[in-house]
Amino acid sequence: MDKLKITGGARLNGPVRISGAKNSALPAMAACLLTEGELILENMPMVNDILTTRRLLRELGAEVEFDGGNTARLKATRIASHEAPYDLVKTMRASVLVLGPLLARFGKARVSLPGGCAIGARPIDLHIKGFEKLGATVNTEYGYVEAVANRLKGANIVFEKITVTGTENLMMAAALAEGQSTLVNAALEPEISDLADLLNKMGAKISGAGTSVITIEGVETLHGATHSIIPDRIETGTFLVAGAISESNLELTRCNPSHLSGVIEKLREAGAVIEEGADSMRVRGGNELRSADVITHEYPGFATDMQAQYMAMMTQAKGISLITESIFENRFMHASELMRMGANIRIDGSRAVVAGKSRLTGATVIASDLRASASLVLAALVAEGVTTVDRIYHLDRGYEKIEEKLRSFGAQIERLK
Ligand code: UD1
Repeated sequence: MDKLKITGGARLNGPVRISGAKNSALPAMAACLLTEGELILENMPMVNDILTTRRLLRELGAEVEFDGGNTARLKATRIASHEAPYDLVKTMRASVLVLGPLLARFGKARVSLPGGCAIGARPIDLHIKGFEKLGATVNTEYGYVEAVANRLKGANIVFEKITVTGTENLMMAAALAEGQSTLVNAALEPEISDLADLLNKMGAKISGAGTSVITIEGVETLHGATHSIIPDRIETGTFLVAGAISESNLELTRCNPSHLSGVIEKLREAGAVIEEGADSMRVRGGNELRSADVITHEYPGFATDMQAQYMAMMTQAKGISLITESIFENRFMHASELMRMGANIRIDGSRAVVAGKSRLTGATVIASDLRASASLVLAALVAEGVTTVDRIYHLDRGYEKIEEKLRSFGAQIERLK
C-alpha cells in the first residue's frame, strides 16, 4: 500500500489548477446508461473512484474510454448485466448511482447494498422509497437491492432528509419516466445542477435543479451529449486550507468561488486572506489564525467534506473552536490521528472541541477515509519533521495528482510505494 512522506515547514508558493469534481463526474458517468447515444465528458478528474466506475460500467456492458487526458467517452448501446456486484459497491458507495438509470431504461437493476462505511451507517432507504413511488417493485434480499418496473411513472417524491446521491438517482430515473415528477426537499449541491445540465443536454426536461423543488417532465428516450464537469469545490477548499495554515501564497485556477461561499466565509472568519476572481482564487497564509466554530450543513452551508480539513486548520488557530458534524454520525476518525501529531482535541458526541494553537510534530498516521486523509496531509505540511501518511488509497480515490500538485508549489512530499 502506498504511503506519503511529508516534511513539514516548507513555504508554498505558486499556482494550482483545480480538477473536475469527482462527485459530479460519478453521476455523469452513470447517466450514460440512460441512452444508447454517446456521452463525451470533459474535465474529468482522473482519480480512483472514476476508474472504479469505469470498471463497473464495463461490467454492465458499456464502452468507456479515456483519451489519456481528462476526456471520457461512454456508450451503453446495449448492456450485458443489470448488476452492480458487492466487490465494487464496497469500495465505492456511489456505485448505487447505476440503480436509477438501469431501472428507468431497462426495467431492472440489482445493486449490492452498500452498508456502512468509516464515517457512518449511510443507508439508501430514501433512494428505495423514491423508486417505489415511481412504481418500481423493490426487494432487498441476499445483500442486494433488486428493483423491477415496466415503465416508471412520474410521481411526487418528498425526501424526509436531504440526500445528494438520492436526489441524483431519482432525477435520472424520473427523466425517463412517463409523466411529471417532482422531487421535494431535494439537495441543492452544485453537483445536482451539473447533472441536471447534462441530462437536459441529453434531451431531458428538468427544471428547478439547485432549488429544493425539482420538476422533471419524463421523456421517452435520451440521446448523446458533450458536457464539461464543474470544478471540484472540495479540492478547492482543501487547497485554500493548505494556503491558510502554511506560509503560503497560492493561486487556485479553474475553480468556481461561488460554490464555496460557506467555506470561504468561515476561513476568512478564522483569519485566512482569500481573494476571489471569476474562476480563480488567491490565498495567503502566515498570519495568525483564530478559532471559529463551525457546524456542517447541506449546501450552501459548510460542507461535511471540508470538516476534517478545517479541523487540521483549527489546530493551528488560537483559542477554542467547536466543530459540530451534523450530516454523518461518525466522522471524526481523523481527530485521534491529529492528536498523535500533537493536536489538542476532545470529541463529545457529534462535537469536537479543538484547542489551539498546538505545536504539531511528524508521526506515522493512518488515513481512515478520503477527507480524513486530506486533513492529515494538511497537518503534515505544518508539522515539525517527517509525517508518514499510511493507507493513502483513500486519498487516491478523490484527489487528482495531489502530491504532484503540492510539490509543484514547494511542499516536500514523496510517495513511498
Ligand atoms: C454525498 C457525497 C459525499 C458527501 C455527502 C454529504 C457523492 C458521491 N458523495 O454522499 O461526498 O459527504 O453527499 O454532502 O456525491 N441518508 C439516509 N438515507 C438515504 C440516503 C442518505 O438516511 O437513503 C442519510 C445519510 O446517512 C447521511 C445523510 O442522509 O446522514 C446525507 O447523506 P447523502 O447526502 O445521501 O450522502 P451521499 O449522497 O452518500
